[in-house]
Amino acid sequence: MLDESLRQQLLAAARRAREAAYAPYSNFTVGAAVLTATGEIFSGCNVENASLGATMCAERVAICTAVAAGWRNFTALAVVADTPEPVAPCGLCRQVLAEFSPDCQVLMANLAGQWRLADLQELFPLAFRLPTREGGEA
Ligand code: THU
Repeated sequence: MLDESLRQQLLAAARRAREAAYAPYSNFTVGAAVLTATGEIFSGCNVENASLGATMCAERVAICTAVAAGWRNFTALAVVADTPEPVAPCGLCRQVLAEFSPDCQVLMANLAGQWRLADLQELFPLAFRLPTREGGEA
């Protein structure tokens, strides 16, 4: 469970990461941070590209940074943007998070300090998993 201190640390990391966002096409800057089961925090920002489909969301940058550093078990992911309501992660990012941690919590926030917590299971039920020959899941 995400206590208040961890929630604030995670949101601070996401807000800080957002400052590095590269978003010249949308001007919509996003910050994200993941909390590992052992307490590490990895953050990311959105990185856009002139070939718009090559754009990386902040959440996937944070998740992939953590995975590249050797962590795969996440207890919470925070996402922050300057939106009227707390911002929710896109479907692609939900699928990527579900690959590693289907039981993760998702902390959605805006710069005004509003936040909302949800289970990934609630935001993204029935994530795709590759079936194995044995009939189970990969
Ligand atoms: N974006 C994110 O970083 N996370 C999301 O969950 C949704 C969208 C970014 C991608 C793009 O750079 C900009 O926001 C506008 O879509």
